[in-house]
Amino acid sequence: MTDRTSIHGQWSSRLAFILAATGSAVGLGNIWKFPYITGENGGGAFVLVYLVCVVIVGIPIMMAEVLIGRRGRQSPINTMRLLAHEESRHGIWQIVGWSGMVAGFLIISFYSVIAGWALAYVFRTASGTFTGVTADGVSSIFSSLVSDPERLLAWHTIFMVMTTIVVSRGVRSGLEQAVRVLMPLLFMLLLVLVGYAMNTDKFDEGLAFLFSPNFSALTPGAVLTAMGHAFFTLSLGMGAIMIYGSYLPKSASITKTSVVVALMDTLVALLAGMAIFPIVFANGLEAGAGPGLIFQTLPLAFGHMPGGTLFGTLFFVLLVFAAWTSGISLLEPAVAWLVENQGVNRVRAATLMGILGWLFGIVTIMSFSSWAFEFDFAGETKRSGMFDILDILTANIMLPLGGLAMAVFAGWFMSRDSTMDELGMGDSLVFRGWFFLVRYVTPVAVIVVFLQLLGVIDF
Ligand code: PHE
Repeated sequence: MTDRTSIHGQWSSRLAFILAATGSAVGLGNIWKFPYITGENGGGAFVLVYLVCVVIVGIPIMMAEVLIGRRGRQSPINTMRLLAHEESRHGIWQIVGWSGMVAGFLIISFYSVIAGWALAYVFRTASGTFTGVTADGVSSIFSSLVSDPERLLAWHTIFMVMTTIVVSRGVRSGLEQAVRVLMPLLFMLLLVLVGYAMNTDKFDEGLAFLFSPNFSALTPGAVLTAMGHAFFTLSLGMGAIMIYGSYLPKSASITKTSVVVALMDTLVALLAGMAIFPIVFANGLEAGAGPGLIFQTLPLAFGHMPGGTLFGTLFFVLLVFAAWTSGISLLEPAVAWLVENQGVNRVRAATLMGILGWLFGIVTIMSFSSWAFEFDFAGETKRSGMFDILDILTANIMLPLGGLAMAVFAGWFMSRDSTMDELGMGDSLVFRGWFFLVRYVTPVAVIVVFLQLLGVIDF
């Protein structure tokens, strides 16, 4: 019964899955988003909450998501429907697949715009624009880019086309090879940047900002953002990891692969933070600068280090690749569903989703210039209107709710035998630990975070 195969193919090995899932997880979330939300939320305490969420919420849900995917071997919508049926549960569970598809579509629409910034920066860095530049200079280069909708549209279009092409060819061909080379390279470049940051006289201050928690700075909104980010950065709660799990060979260990992916993802984020904050402090920049943070700090480092033009160009190229391998996984669940249910071929399905994501991306583009508006969310002033709303709606609300539903489904609605069979570790201590986490700890943690935001409970 569980030896199904996916009509969309299978990874060539366990390593291929690890690479693909890491490719999905490591992206703009780690290098662009993690530093800027850490800066906005006061540093250490926020980082600590995020790390705790990765361990007690992220890893158990990742295991649940992979196991559901591998058992069903279809797009998230059909997998949820099939498993609900097999476990004699209500068909309403497929709503998890639907909401994931919508979340993926909303995320790709703004993700692609930010990836477009990174693309633009490849060329800016390569042409030596940042050589010897001042902090003010870097800021004005950034502002002139984001306030120019036409340029943003061009880069967004290029990124969307790149993503659609890979998805239309099937995630296996190309993706596996690319990730195998690019991920280690990205890692090495981050180490170079951390090395540079160590040589600024503010390295200690940067580390202290990241790692010494000051709980008085922690607002309810920050706690939700930290938890939401654990979902976002691990690609959880919308079906990306579920569909990648559906291509995982039966023999691979779900526990080991999930832990490896989560570890690598976390390491990349922390390295990015360790590279960026010393540069921020050494140049008297604002840690809470918002979404432009890395685009206003890293060019300063590249502009002043030996070989900076080369390193900088390579860095932004790798950032684009990291975003690319994540963007692909955002579209894949919807494309797989269109192929399965609507009888559309993969190329058409990918094109259709690509065009939709592209069109919707215009909302984000305009939100940085003429459509910008301010609003308050959980005690913080947000400046870029629809971009912030999309970000909060997806990362802080839809992904945690999707992940919660997956945990509850795996922990309470699938039989213990089914999950034990799929995890393949027998009734071991690790299995029991996981089972306890998804049944009690993870759902309670997610619900508590929502309730404290709504002011229902207060710590
Ligand atoms: N994890 C990706 C990142 O950190 C973003 C992502 C979210 C990808 C959800 C897929 C699903 O950049």
